[in-house]
Amino acid sequence: DKGNYKHFMAKEIHEQPEVLGHTLSRYFDYTTKRARVEGADQLKFKDLSRLIITACGTAYLAGLVSKYWFEKYARLPVEIDIASEFRYRETPVSDKDTALVISQSGETADTLASLRYCKTNGATIGAIVNVPESTIAREADRVFQTIAGPEIGVASTKAFTCQLAVLAGLALQAGRERGVLTPEREQELVAELIEVPSLALKALARESDIEKLAHPLSKASNALYLGRATNFPLALEGALKLKELSYIHAEGYAAGELKHGPIALIDENMPVFVIAPFDAIYEKTVSNMQEVAARGGRIVLITDERGASECGNAAENTVILPDMSDIVAPIIYALPVQLIAYHTAVFMGTDVDQPRNLAKSVTVE
Ligand code: M6R
Repeated sequence: DKGNYKHFMAKEIHEQPEVLGHTLSRYFDYTTKRARVEGADQLKFKDLSRLIITACGTAYLAGLVSKYWFEKYARLPVEIDIASEFRYRETPVSDKDTALVISQSGETADTLASLRYCKTNGATIGAIVNVPESTIAREADRVFQTIAGPEIGVASTKAFTCQLAVLAGLALQAGRERGVLTPEREQELVAELIEVPSLALKALARESDIEKLAHPLSKASNALYLGRATNFPLALEGALKLKELSYIHAEGYAAGELKHGPIALIDENMPVFVIAPFDAIYEKTVSNMQEVAARGGRIVLITDERGASECGNAAENTVILPDMSDIVAPIIYALPVQLIAYHTAVFMGTDVDQPRNLAKSVTVE
């Protein structure tokens, strides 16, 4: 049932404040302000020299965001790969390893094959899935469920942000178990994460600004998304969403890679989405943005008040989100990224919930 929405995707985007609340309250203790991930001890975070993460599509991009978190908050190196590559790489895996697989459906063939590869080689398997009775959930040693509810739209939205919420819980839990996070620091981070549902509501309130971007974007045949750090996976996610929903060719790049090739594409017909909250790395992204502006590229900057005022006049359009801490930013910045693709597709009249050539769950390789 779509309720009052035109598409399941719109409904699922708007459900995020609520389902993020459900997922966060499963994995965090709001009273003590600590991560509380039952069964995380099975993953042996304390003894690991690296954590393996594997998934496909948007679930892979959630894993990529978490790499920054595991490394920063838990000093735990992460080896992440897309499942279709991982499964055939013959990478060494042993009983000293822990692998995390991430899948909304829990049925993705390549992700399941990666799980089986790791399991056969003796690794312990944790799975972040949305469907608890799925094959991946059954075969994992430990399941961490996203409480996103059924996701019907082919484009993954609420499952992605809920995956991030679970991964944040695991990263903080790992940080504590590995003696990296002090109790005070953990409490600070959890207090920030608890704000996610209300920040998500505020981000959704920007929808009419975002809708206005759809018309000009629908005329483009290419688009670029740029970001650094945890905004780099979001740039990839923005490009993936735009491609799958509106069929506009889009690419996501780490902003620092711009001058290693993609800058050659920039001209006045190229919309460039820059995802850059005013954080420690903002200045670096702005200098990439100025390089784009100098070549006539049309920039949409997704940022906060401070970021908008510090960018000079490089941006043609801005989407301004509330101020927020580093750890919550990738969860909240995902929302405008989803809305851009959604409204562009609606404007173009494509089949938003069932884009051409795609299946919700990719059970063949
Ligand atoms: O069910 P899964 O999370 O394993 O699916 C993985 C990908 O097929 C999925 O995220 C796909 O990329 C989405 N259509 C993206 O919106």
